[in-house]
Amino acid sequence: MIRLPSNLRRNLRLMRIGHILATHGMAALAVRMRLFYPYVWLVQLFRGDDLPKDLGAQIRLVLEELGPTFIKFGQMLSTRVDLLPLDVALELKKLQDNVPPEPIAKVRRVIEQSFKKPVTGEGGVFAAFDETPVAAASIAQVHFAELKDGRHVAVKVRRDHISRTIESDLAILKLLAGLFDRYFPEYHRLKAPQVIEEFAVTIRGELNLRAEAAHASRFAENFAGVEGVRVPEVMWDYTQTEVLTTERISGIPIDEKEKLEAAGHDCLKLCERAATQFFRMVFVDGYFHADMHPGNIFVADNGDLIFIDFGIVGRLDIRSRRYIASMLLAFLQEDYRRAAEVHVEAGYVPANTDISAFEDALREIAVPIFNRPLGDISIAELLLSMFAVTERFKMETQPQLLLLQKTMVVIEGVARELADQANVWMLARPLITEWVSRHMGPVGRAEAIGEEIHGQLRDWMQLPAKIDSVLSRIDEGSVTFTSEPSRLSTAIGAMLSAAGGGWLVWNSANDAGSGLLLLSAALMGLGFVLAVSRT
Ligand SMILES: Nc1ncnc2c1ncn2[C@@H]1O[C@H](COP(=O)(O)OP(=O)(O)O)[C@@H](O)[C@H]1O
Ligand SMILES: [Mg+2]
Repeated sequence: MIRLPSNLRRNLRLMRIGHILATHGMAALAVRMRLFYPYVWLVQLFRGDDLPKDLGAQIRLVLEELGPTFIKFGQMLSTRVDLLPLDVALELKKLQDNVPPEPIAKVRRVIEQSFKKPVTGEGGVFAAFDETPVAAASIAQVHFAELKDGRHVAVKVRRDHISRTIESDLAILKLLAGLFDRYFPEYHRLKAPQVIEEFAVTIRGELNLRAEAAHASRFAENFAGVEGVRVPEVMWDYTQTEVLTTERISGIPIDEKEKLEAAGHDCLKLCERAATQFFRMVFVDGYFHADMHPGNIFVADNGDLIFIDFGIVGRLDIRSRRYIASMLLAFLQEDYRRAAEVHVEAGYVPANTDISAFEDALREIAVPIFNRPLGDISIAELLLSMFAVTERFKMETQPQLLLLQKTMVVIEGVARELADQANVWMLARPLITEWVSRHMGPVGRAEAIGEEIHGQLRDWMQLPAKIDSVLSRIDEGSVTFTSEPSRLSTAIGAMLSAAGGGWLVWNSANDAGSGLLLLSAALMGLGFVLAVSRT
């Protein structure tokens, strides 16, 4: 195949994008972004349709024509109801990443190149390899196979050259986002370049199947000993960046309600199990499956849930977990003042926030949601409206929380399909309450303070070494003082700094007021300046 120079390829691609936009009633967008606009303008002139009749549907068609990366981008955008009008988001939800499977010769080539062995036969990787794929998506497809020891496995094989295609599409998306940001200043708030950055991280993560294998085995570890849930075992010897081999599982996909009922499963119980397991991942492990759509959750004969497909995971540190737990609990108890305070305590909104106004804003979004019948209460929706409010109160976007919210949307959808009378959140309440009392009660608080002190102590313990290094640098003559250069001022500085540090530790232990904290921080700062001030 002849490969064109990358600049030329990119320009041809941009021209095609301009053409597709113009033929879908979005010429104005292309013109304003200076995308081959004389050409686009001409196309528009001949076609005469200058405005799309249904913006959402047209955006969807454009993305479909542009291929897998853009389809995946549209799917990601569809969950950002915080950015998009609802009708556009709903239309983008229809984007399907069903693509024709790769020819088997290419699949074989990828496996052979990865293992430097034939796929089957003498000295081959597998004893048998089923050439008909079980599923095909834009990044990879899955085939069933058998290992030489007789174990049945599922082999996920990345599409040939998909990495290169995605990288060049990402470069185009970055460029388009930059142009959009520049020529549509009224849409700065959409933060287009940042949205693309986040998307790039996600899609690149999905490309590396060894990383997915690592996620899978971490989940297996986290779930070891937990009843009612399973994760297929990763066959590491049969896994590479482009090939992931896991134990083959059998079960009914969680959205096939009739089949589940026919097999004698209690759908309400399954719902409860899914919710509990999700909260377990979020709160107990701080590590959650972030692609929990029905195609990735199966139900085993005995009712166990089997999770597969660990391309995207979410991570929550203990601080975010404490914040989410106390915030949700405050909402469940309809204590809106507390819900507001939690944000300040977590440091997500400035300390000088008008708590009373914040409380009212939270009440305004939460009351209508909690007034609904139990089955219609959506925490995902509550979180989303809350992000809009917190943004008004100067809270920075927290990507890990956004991912959590997006996953909650999916899980609520799964649960609603499964048992419409169930409310996952009420089902999971015991787990949240238990976690909160464990981590936010007296023992939990003591632990939290302990952790804080531990961190402070660690910094403090490093002080002598720091002082030593400053002193030795003075001896070497690399540090000079603005006034009366003497070891004395350095020593005083170090002492002040240490006193500040000590006070800080004492303060955190006693949970003393922020004034004292400030004072000790100031002492530390002053000490440090004295200790290392140079000309
Ligand atoms: N270990 C497995 N056992 C049985 N079927 C599997 C296994 N892994 C994947 N599959 C099948 O392949 C499909 C796609 O796999 P998945 O890992 O979800 O890939 P994708 O990231 O493309 O969604 C699944 O929905 C399931 O039907
Ligand atoms: Mg999947």
